[in-house]
Amino acid sequence: RTAVIADVDTGLDDALALVFLARDPRIDLLAVTCVAGNTGVDQVVRNTLDVLHAAGAGSVPVARGAEQPLINEWRDAHAFHGANGLGGLELPRNPHAPSPLAAVELMHRTIEDAPAPVTLLALGPLTNVALFLRAYPQTARKLERIVFMGGSAGIGNATSHAEFNAWHDPEALTIVIHSGIPTVMYGLDVFVQATLTPEQYLPFAEMNDDGARLVGEVLAVGGRRGRADAEGGSGTGPDTAGLAPVTLGDAGAACLIAVPETVQLARYPVRVELNGHSRGQTLVDRRLQPGESEHHGDAGPVPVIEVAVGLDHPLMAATFL
Ligand code: BDR
Ligand code: CA
Repeated sequence: RTAVIADVDTGLDDALALVFLARDPRIDLLAVTCVAGNTGVDQVVRNTLDVLHAAGAGSVPVARGAEQPLINEWRDAHAFHGANGLGGLELPRNPHAPSPLAAVELMHRTIEDAPAPVTLLALGPLTNVALFLRAYPQTARKLERIVFMGGSAGIGNATSHAEFNAWHDPEALTIVIHSGIPTVMYGLDVFVQATLTPEQYLPFAEMNDDGARLVGEVLAVGGRRGRADAEGGSGTGPDTAGLAPVTLGDAGAACLIAVPETVQLARYPVRVELNGHSRGQTLVDRRLQPGESEHHGDAGPVPVIEVAVGLDHPLMAATFL
């Protein structure tokens, strides 16, 4: 089994990833750390605890992390994830309290105590991960790898070119990419392709299992929104007719850890734009042969990392289902 610490900003699709990580037999979910992103960090902690509780993993330690990006002010994604970050879904409360440790301290202790190298899966802005890398570089070098959802080799969502997690804290992402730790970028251009159809996700909502029902409800929120976008309506109705396919979102990055064949990876130089209207854009230089690097004058060397470039869509869907 792969030992995983997940860093999240739960978040509708973070919730899908958490249920998957809690339930997949190939994953050993050691700890979860929370960062401001889709919603404020205290709401992220609440949502994360309650999602884990629904998944039957309510005792997994959950720690509060950064409430602001390194330099930017926090800017929520309530327009997408709703005021509570979960599209208005209300969950039974997890009776467990958050960890008394701060996120970077829980990362540190968990990695030091783990019998084997840990994979750090980052599904929100990279603030906590960057702070951890700076605070505990020697412990960070014990990581198996960092897999992050963020950036894009194509279209953006927060802006025309920048993906939300990268845009929210581009300095933090820069620190991660320059860390020298084996790093995988699961970017927005691939993330949007990992979809489930209503025929695949609606049965979850009928299951006699809190975690499965939560997955079904989260995906139905997305399906109604997709239908409304197509029709120009509100997307708030409860009916299930004509729902749209929905991306697994962050859960796709979790699937890639459980089943590496779900995603094709290639090694490319990646830099993060920090200035002007392209701030937060990731520039993935796909011209080079795998393994090559390049230099850009004063900007210094551009790190080569692994970038998701394609999906085995049926395998991805089957892995999650
Ligand atoms: C990313 O931002 C959030 O809205 C999602 O949870 C995902 O991590 C997509 O840009
Ligand atoms: Ca997220």
